Amino acid sequence: MEKIFLDVIKSRRSVRAYKDEQVKDEQLELILEGGMWAPSGINQQSWHFTVVQNKELLNDISNETKKILQKGENDYLRKLGENENLQIFYNAPTVILVSGDEKAATPMEDTSAAVQNMLLVAESMSIGTCWVGTIQGLFSHPQLGEVYKKKCNIPEGYKVYHAVSVGYKKIEGQKAPRRKENKINYIKHL
Ligand SMILES: Cc1cc2nc3c(=O)[nH]c(=O)nc-3n(C[C@H](O)[C@H](O)[C@H](O)COP(=O)(O)O)c2cc1C
Repeated sequence: MEKIFLDVIKSRRSVRAYKDEQVKDEQLELILEGGMWAPSGINQQSWHFTVVQNKELLNDISNETKKILQKGENDYLRKLGENENLQIFYNAPTVILVSGDEKAATPMEDTSAAVQNMLLVAESMSIGTCWVGTIQGLFSHPQLGEVYKKKCNIPEGYKVYHAVSVGYKKIEGQKAPRRKENKINYIKHL
């Protein structure tokens, strides 16, 4: 059944369990197309998308990221790093690394807008995604950062800001976290 757009927005969840089956190329292309049609500061379209479908490399990135999380200051993230059962991409068969041109005006904002577009295009096809920010620790690491940027063929001068896990959902109908209240106010008259 066709979903109206606000329903797509509301039904998207961070999916943390995926089927092994690889996502169809045609669907992946639509997701990436969604990313490329995001707005961007001064229309610089400063993003680059690296599609990784290599399990070994993804597990390697996950293990190294977890080691870095274990050494961090944040209790929640440290516990994540110590969780032996966690693979940071939740074993999704596809991961899109989203990097941005560091010389652009607003690479963080451009790439974030691209990520959200991709999450929503995926949800419109009932494909699961999770925005994975923890990879920043690895890709901005003083030594390992360059090593992994090379391994992943990230273009010169680009910084990896986000990763998106993509795959068919193992579980449908995930419950949404409650929305916080009092997050809107209007000013109509002085
Ligand atoms: C910038 C950013 C980074 C995130 N990084 C992670 C992450 O590393 N791992 C993860 O499981 N979820 C990550 N998330 C997903 C959030 O945990 C999730 O969006 C939030 O709990 C709300 O749940 P929902 O997406 O199902 O609405 C990230 C979300 C954002 C916006």
